[in-house]
Amino acid sequence: MRYGYFDDEHREYVITRPDTPLPWLNYLGTDAYVGIISNTAGGYSCYRDARLRRLTRYRYNGVPADSGGRYLYLRDNRSGEYWSPSWQPTRGDLDSYECRHGLSYTRISSARLGVRAETLYFVPPGETLEVWRLRVRNERGGPADLSVFSSVEFCLWDAQDDATNFQRNYSTGEVEVDGGVIYHKTEYRERRDHFAYFACSEPLTGFDTQREEFLGPYRGWDRPLAVERGESANSVAHGWAPHGSHHVRFLLAPGETKEVIFLLGYWENPREAKFDPPGSQILNKALVRPVIDRWLRPETVAEGFRQLRESWSSRLSVLQVGTPDQDTNRMVNIWNPYQCMVTFAMSRSVSLFESGISRGIGFRDSCQDLLGFVQLAPGRARARILDLAATQLASGGAYHQYQPLTKTGNDAIGSGFNDDPLWLVLGVAAYLKETGDEAILDEPVPYADAADVRPPLQEHLERSLRYTLDRLGPHQLPLIGRADWNDCLNLNCFSAEPGQSFQTTENVAGDTAESVFIGGLFVLAAREYAPIAERRGRAAEARCYRAEAEKMAAVIAEHGWDGAWFRRAYDHSGRAVGSAADDEGQIFIEPQGICVMSGVGIDDGMAVRALDSVRERLATSHGILLLQPAYTSYHLELGEISSYPPGYKENGSVFCHTNPWVMIAEAMAGRGDAAFGYYQRINPSVREEISEVHRCEPYVYAQMIAGRDAPAQGEAKNSWLTGTAAWNLVAITQWILGIRAELDGLRVDPVLPAAWPGFTATRRFRGATYQISVRNPGTRLTHLEVDGRRIEGTLVPLAPPGATVHVTAGGQGQG
Ligand code: GLC
Ligand code: GLC
Repeated sequence: MRYGYFDDEHREYVITRPDTPLPWLNYLGTDAYVGIISNTAGGYSCYRDARLRRLTRYRYNGVPADSGGRYLYLRDNRSGEYWSPSWQPTRGDLDSYECRHGLSYTRISSARLGVRAETLYFVPPGETLEVWRLRVRNERGGPADLSVFSSVEFCLWDAQDDATNFQRNYSTGEVEVDGGVIYHKTEYRERRDHFAYFACSEPLTGFDTQREEFLGPYRGWDRPLAVERGESANSVAHGWAPHGSHHVRFLLAPGETKEVIFLLGYWENPREAKFDPPGSQILNKALVRPVIDRWLRPETVAEGFRQLRESWSSRLSVLQVGTPDQDTNRMVNIWNPYQCMVTFAMSRSVSLFESGISRGIGFRDSCQDLLGFVQLAPGRARARILDLAATQLASGGAYHQYQPLTKTGNDAIGSGFNDDPLWLVLGVAAYLKETGDEAILDEPVPYADAADVRPPLQEHLERSLRYTLDRLGPHQLPLIGRADWNDCLNLNCFSAEPGQSFQTTENVAGDTAESVFIGGLFVLAAREYAPIAERRGRAAEARCYRAEAEKMAAVIAEHGWDGAWFRRAYDHSGRAVGSAADDEGQIFIEPQGICVMSGVGIDDGMAVRALDSVRERLATSHGILLLQPAYTSYHLELGEISSYPPGYKENGSVFCHTNPWVMIAEAMAGRGDAAFGYYQRINPSVREEISEVHRCEPYVYAQMIAGRDAPAQGEAKNSWLTGTAAWNLVAITQWILGIRAELDGLRVDPVLPAAWPGFTATRRFRGATYQISVRNPGTRLTHLEVDGRRIEGTLVPLAPPGATVHVTAGGQGQG
């Protein structure tokens, strides 16, 4: 069953009924000012840091679901009837409803009682505000006497405090209402230099800023007293719950349309010019007012929206493909890069499943996000790399997370996730391949625990690799530390205390438990690093890491191989995890993917054997399971993984992040049907037709889909912010379609499903444009035609900036 459809031409997903299985989200803004918006206008906004600079409130576990948002109410002043044009929060019947989620904007339209309303929500590029442009049209035979009430509930900035510290919060709230603009200035009197504002383009009939005055006692958002009565209380909040509501009243002739613009924004004043007049407690509005006035003009809004659309067109033009498969085309051309951009911008902070309070920017998460993002905005990727490297420690380890506002490591989580530093090598390698900007390797970057030392970035990479080699266990495999990629495989934790953190508790010394996964990741990272070191005149280093990679590959073959697949780890007592010797947790997906990707077992058949085991034991119609059989009870020696009921999360769901590793591995093994088959199983566009089962948005990947051991097999959770976005884009574009940026050129090496006749693609790369046309060779390509000339192999040499290069492949003579 579907709840909408894709409009590929407009790059939108169109939701045709408001009661989707879950709120289906979109993101406004991808830079400093960001927010989430649901298909019924629920959600909230923040500036840079979702915990510390939250503008508006949202109630994650409130009922009904998706409560708190960017709400408007329309009221027929003759009959007194009122409704929400976005359905929530009144949830009354609408005669029509449509929500279009586009790239960084959402447009919700509906009609009721002959009144059509359309609201466009977006954040103009470069601004710290969001626009709501409401258009109301009278489709009745006679005049319509209408009121519009707006409503936002302000958050007192620190979202954690806002939800808990009521003894203080109920007495701190402050606002100003001036010239029709509502200013929320709680704590501005003391150390904050920022405030929020809520403005309206029309003269106000009234306003409210105290929530209880607007709602009335014991009422909810579905029945505000001010709206019912048709009259605001003109309340000025002092303490309690600061809120923003404008009341606008107008008469529309038949066929007439009225446009009303609302702005919700964030503003920071220079500390020395906070108040006007100086010495008073009155907000200085001299700097913000011109911005408000400008954005309240319809021409500015129209132009801002045009620029937003243009910026997406130009960003997406870096790669556009035409394949025989529509689900692939719309994911690759539109939604997957969009999700990568959002994921990169938000890390794991704000979604329906992340409250914005507890997660900073994850080191490994962000490094992997880079893989899918780097071609979309290389400048921002560069800045992120340098921020990440600065949270690395002198040991080569890394803070597991850092805070976006301060960019300092999170002490509560700390470090010791032994895979973390290796991802930095992969992230930087991807950046170098995309941009060729080797100068980044010379950038001085401090260590988080030794700010006075500022070695060049290159040294950080070297230390990342060294970190693994300095921490080998009894089998010469890497020690796992607190956890590796699988946060929930906690082999040194041994927690018996309820509520104790699995990730940070270490009850035994971490000097025996080893990870085969980190072993594979090390081989991959070392092989990525060696050619980079070579180019930089560090031939000895390159040789050293090639040799270490060989050595590690041999150790994996000896101690990491279980007979038909790669083992996952060795626990604290030296027992193999992920082995046929156990009843549960016999085979894990992660080492099958990563080890094959790193090249382990390619030459001796282990790789293909491991992939066959994945197909036999882990593959389901909803995707590839993380492990099988799922753990049915809690294992002290394994940690959080066994805390989840079977089939969920790390305990045997389809943890989608890991599926593309197997797709890549299958492509490397030359098996296009297998690779593409796995891709289709988790492609949300393919799953659209089972939306009642999948339940999450059909236009973005979810972190997990409940596995075969769960009662709700096939149900997705944790959509949007997941490494799945980056890795799937890598798998489908770089390995199945085979278009890969490399240090010396553009690789075109597809491994396609047999049924495809071929595909075309346009790739912008280092300033040149490559027009690629592939006829399915049915096997690996051996040569290409580049501008009509035959080239042996599959690497298209770099063309000068501005050039257009025609690449054709798979014609006669191939396969
Ligand atoms: C979550 C975490 C990620 C981790 C994965 C597996 O997605 O954000 O860091 O690798 O879970 O545990
Ligand atoms: C939980 C999640 C896991 C995540 C971890 C770290 O364990 O299940 O996916 O990586 O928390 O926050």
